[in-house]
Amino acid sequence: MTIFEISKSNRIGYELPENNINDFDLNLPEHLIRKEDPKLPQVSEVDVVRHYTNLAAKNYAVDVGFYPLGSCTMKYNPKINEKIANLEGFSMIHPFQPHETTQGALKLMFELKEMLCEITGMDDMTLIPSAGAHGELTGMLIARAYHLSRGDTKRTKAIVPDSAHGTNPASAAMAGFEVVEIKSGPDGRVDLEELKNALDENVAVLMLTNPNTLGLFEKDILKISEMVHEKGALLYYDGANLNALLGITRPGDMGFDIVHLNLHKTFSTPHGMGGPGSGPVGVKKHLAKFLPIPEIVKENEEYKLNYNKPDSIGFIRSNYGNFSVMVRAYTYLKTMGKDGLKKVGQMAVLNANYLRKKVEKIMEIAYPDFCMHEFVSTCEKFTKETGVKALDIAKRLLDYGVHAPTMYFPLIVHEDFMIEPTETESKDTLDKFAEILSKIFEEAKENPDFVKNAPYNTPVRRLDDVSASRKPVFRFNFGK
Ligand SMILES: Cc1ncc(COP(=O)(O)O)c(C=O)c1O
Repeated sequence: MTIFEISKSNRIGYELPENNINDFDLNLPEHLIRKEDPKLPQVSEVDVVRHYTNLAAKNYAVDVGFYPLGSCTMKYNPKINEKIANLEGFSMIHPFQPHETTQGALKLMFELKEMLCEITGMDDMTLIPSAGAHGELTGMLIARAYHLSRGDTKRTKAIVPDSAHGTNPASAAMAGFEVVEIKSGPDGRVDLEELKNALDENVAVLMLTNPNTLGLFEKDILKISEMVHEKGALLYYDGANLNALLGITRPGDMGFDIVHLNLHKTFSTPHGMGGPGSGPVGVKKHLAKFLPIPEIVKENEEYKLNYNKPDSIGFIRSNYGNFSVMVRAYTYLKTMGKDGLKKVGQMAVLNANYLRKKVEKIMEIAYPDFCMHEFVSTCEKFTKETGVKALDIAKRLLDYGVHAPTMYFPLIVHEDFMIEPTETESKDTLDKFAEILSKIFEEAKENPDFVKNAPYNTPVRRLDDVSASRKPVFRFNFGK
């Protein structure tokens, strides 16, 4: 039911003050001037509150239950971060205020940038990009600007492993690179021989996430870095999986030249459904001049926005990014401290390995090795035997009040779950998840059709995913 369907003529929720502007000329073209009143829903305040409260209650969220969405790091976000982000001094400022009146906000961003540089081992950083994928595009544009600035116009290729997140090849292509995919080795990591064959003088950049999306640490990272740099290319770090490394090791020390982070994953902003997010991009010294504008600078104890950067890739969005996400990340870092952050990395890895050992009794682990923050399990054999797919198991998990893990990704594993428990879950929750998963596999063996028709207890049953993505309906149809 939409808000329009509960609308009743003349029901009022809010009355605007009398209009005392009689004459104004917006100088709009005739065809843009509205001929009739907009069809706004007519509802009382209590109608509105109940409608949206009931809708919200149908939602699943990390505040409701376990959300083991691999690669997406759906960890619990401490509420103090919300409280600080909602302080009036932060939430009510405007990006066009004179900088003398926004010193606190600029200082927060400057210090956040410095802390993130230290955590990643990079020399400089921009906080502007709005999401991980936007950070990737920014990073790719920086890589392009770097090669072009040296007159090296032949570097048209970006290498991306086949286990990479889909946004990696998309971002490289958007920045104008030809994407070269390399196959992973039998252990799920970068195959050095494949890399060697793909590397030539036309390669601009290698995009890697470490740990990779199989949750495996790229043990040969120093060798990889050497090979890439020897050919004159740059090494790009997709930092969406940084949770596992926090306080333990740094991409900058592994040889990465460009790094993007997902503040909305690792640094505690609730996320999902597309944002708002923040994908800061850090670089080594030799790339700092290409960072986007504006940059935040500190001059004689005063913070300012600098637009005068002749080699910059320029604007990548309006103003300086999603500020409230930065406040949350800043609060998170200040409350966690160095020791707290290290514990995040350790607990993320411990929880993932604990759960992996439990799940391996139920599903096959795609690459059975010590994992970092996540692991990938597969039921491909089970699907062949019973016809019950990973998707059916995922739908049945919803009936037990658990969000399904990421599925059918990375593309090199079939009928899979990518499971990331995160550091914020207790042993009890992990035990419970393994118990539920085991129960569902038993149900599927006994009565495959029952599991194939799940879910039964959710607000909606199975949705037609294909029609939803191919023929999306974004507006209410009022009819005639
Ligand atoms: C490994 C990896 N890289 C990049 C991204 C893209 O981040 P965003 O969703 O913020 O654009 C994700 C998001 O799921 C990811 O898991």
